Amino acid sequence: MDAIALTKKEFNDLTSLVYEVSGINLHEGKAELLKSKIAKRMRMTNKSLKDYLSLLYANENEMIDFIDTVTTNHSFFFRENRSIEYIIQQFSLNPEKEKKEFKIWCAACSTGDEPYSVAVQLKDLGLSFSILATDISHSVLETAERGIYRMDKLQNVPLPLLHRFFQKGTGKYKGQIKVKNEISKHIIFKKFNLISDSAPQIVFDAILCRNVMIYFDFQTSEKVIHKLYHALAPRGYFAIGNAESLMNMKHDYTPVKKIPSLYTK
Ligand SMILES: C[S@@+](CC[C@H](N)C(=O)[O-])C[C@H]1O[C@@H](n2cnc3c(N)ncnc32)[C@H](O)[C@@H]1O
Repeated sequence: MDAIALTKKEFNDLTSLVYEVSGINLHEGKAELLKSKIAKRMRMTNKSLKDYLSLLYANENEMIDFIDTVTTNHSFFFRENRSIEYIIQQFSLNPEKEKKEFKIWCAACSTGDEPYSVAVQLKDLGLSFSILATDISHSVLETAERGIYRMDKLQNVPLPLLHRFFQKGTGKYKGQIKVKNEISKHIIFKKFNLISDSAPQIVFDAILCRNVMIYFDFQTSEKVIHKLYHALAPRGYFAIGNAESLMNMKHDYTPVKKIPSLYTK
């Protein structure tokens, strides 16, 4: 059973629900992907199409697992690092830096590559920090908490940082690498839905919300950037992905000159 037949109504109902829960806009072009994922989940849960769709509608965790399979959680260490580098450089110029604990929120952190990349750079400069790393998907958060990665995901990490903050696997872990506890202890991983959850009552010095708004439509992105604005400290930094844009959106962020995809409050 590799393909299933979805009526137009079933397809529309399903994409509306995905949109409602996660803000992700699945257009017609995703129909085949959607069908093959449903077929896979039907096999795994041993259910008919009708029963599987009922399960999906009734069970938020099943819905989030499902959303997981139709989005990409693709991430890697030191991805689009220019904005991160800039933020950290600015932190290190802060005259209060000795007394301050910098607070960062990675608001769609996927498997953790991004918050760990931020953490090793902050640690390297001897800055105090704490990172809240959130995602809608519990399966990516589990991977993030384990902190074990294939070597190829770390190919952009500068060697001195690689040697200092990661442990190479041996035996059955050969080819893998683990983030050291001195880094992971600064990060809290938590489930957070950018669409439906209220921002934490914390004021962040920087918020990264990168490569997730590509799945959202204009209105949803506008709501999300507005929500995050209120969680940002005055003069705090807001980073989006290089393929994303705030163009034509109503917002109060100021672009940081010469650093694409970076804004300040
Ligand atoms: C492509 S990854 C981006 C990871 C990382 N920020 C980066 O740039 O490499 C997109 C992540 O957004 C998450 N996501 C999708 N919809 C979300 C939502 N409504 N709330 C929070 N996270 C969401 C997905 O689970 C996925 O892990």
